Amino acid sequence: MPEAGTERTLVLLKPDAVKRGLSGEILGRLERKGLTVVGARLLRVTPDLAGRHYFEHAGKPFYDGLVRHITSGPVLALAVEGRGAIAVVRLLVGATNPATAAPGTIRGDLALAMTPNLIHASDSSASAERELALFFRPEDYHSYVRTDQEFL
Ligand code: PPS
Repeated sequence: MPEAGTERTLVLLKPDAVKRGLSGEILGRLERKGLTVVGARLLRVTPDLAGRHYFEHAGKPFYDGLVRHITSGPVLALAVEGRGAIAVVRLLVGATNPATAAPGTIRGDLALAMTPNLIHASDSSASAERELALFFRPEDYHSYVRTDQEFL
């Protein structure tokens, strides 16, 4: 039985993160925070999947660049669980524009440019549910209790 308040969210390490060899660094930050990785897939996002993932942004000036980037190389999709995980992950990620993201955040510490901003994280429980279903099947999840949290 998961602890009350436990949420599951989607994290995508974008092609710039994977190709810069930052997957371990970013994943480590999520793990060290105490979040639990319950799903992981390395995949190439197709234009169709990108369109479904980013449908809310279709028509915006940056949309084509966003889709071009997410389809440009391997993406590490992660399903991450923890108490208040949706907001916690967004805090760790930092502001959308890495140039102004706070130091200490993933984007603030590790990126500078706008479109290759390393990481996507769901922004609400409705988005998390919708986006997780695009990347994971129910049988892809492996929920477990971290040994460092067994007695909390
Ligand atoms: S965020 O980080 O999700 O809150 O960003 P948001 O402002 O909602 O923007 C949605 C996604 O669009 C990307 N974005 C941009 N890309 C390029 N140029 C500009 N100007 C721009 N503005 C927003 C932003 O990185 C979000 O992508 P994801 O993959 O969700 O982080």
